Amino acid sequence: MKTKSNNSLKNINKDIEFYNKNGYLIIKVFKKEDINSFENLIKSKVDKVIKKKRWKLKFYHDHVNKKNNTKLTKTSKRYINVNKKILNRIKKNKKISNLLKFKWSHSNFVIPDQNYLLGKTNTTNFTRINKNEVPFRIVVPYKKKYSISAAPPPHVDLNAGKVIKSNNRNKSPICFTLWTPLIGFSKKYTLQVAPGSHRIRHPINRIEKNSKYISPVFEKKYYKKFKFRRFNLKKGEAILFDVNLIHGGTENLGEQSRVNLEFRLYNQNRIGLSS
Ligand SMILES: [Fe+2]
Repeated sequence: MKTKSNNSLKNINKDIEFYNKNGYLIIKVFKKEDINSFENLIKSKVDKVIKKKRWKLKFYHDHVNKKNNTKLTKTSKRYINVNKKILNRIKKNKKISNLLKFKWSHSNFVIPDQNYLLGKTNTTNFTRINKNEVPFRIVVPYKKKYSISAAPPPHVDLNAGKVIKSNNRNKSPICFTLWTPLIGFSKKYTLQVAPGSHRIRHPINRIEKNSKYISPVFEKKYYKKFKFRRFNLKKGEAILFDVNLIHGGTENLGEQSRVNLEFRLYNQNRIGLSS
């Protein structure tokens, strides 16, 4: 018994050590049935824009045109609501809760509404923010020209909603992103991250001016000095990463349209105090 608990303590420490060094962890979070239900929820949202019957989300690129794709990419309705069962999958995940406890000294998170994420709200009212709205993203294969606006260049989520903040490295991160692929699990599809970049205080003046993306993106001259990696993931695995980790600029090099969810786990004790 003692050996078992010693071993799990060792594993927790290993994860935290890895996270501190690299700024991300790959974690098995969801079941296959969860992934399928996410896909159905997204499909029914997309169906409202693409008014066709009987089509598959992985062939999204065969059914959209530039106008529809832009409409879907830009809308503030680009999210699904997740239920309690899904929240519990995240809450009960040992790797996630251990990391949150280590960083926040508790593991209570909030998944906020779009207004909060887009920096369009002044409210600090917890129940108004706590809506479990999870943005999705669909990126068509690279060879299709209109893929560009759906895959933002490298950035940090700390600046999401155009609220530009300089990170204070001594502070614990206010939020973690759980990047979850639904279609496209190989390196050709998955999110590109720059390991270790979360440890740097990224200069605000290296953010591109007049960016058309929701997350202010870095100038090419700045991000090109970082080394990026992509991963082969399994269905149900996700990348949990630091709000100050550089990621993005991830072209879809596969044949199918890439679909993923971005869960934002905000520190419940600080959500009203984030600005
Ligand atoms: Fe991002």
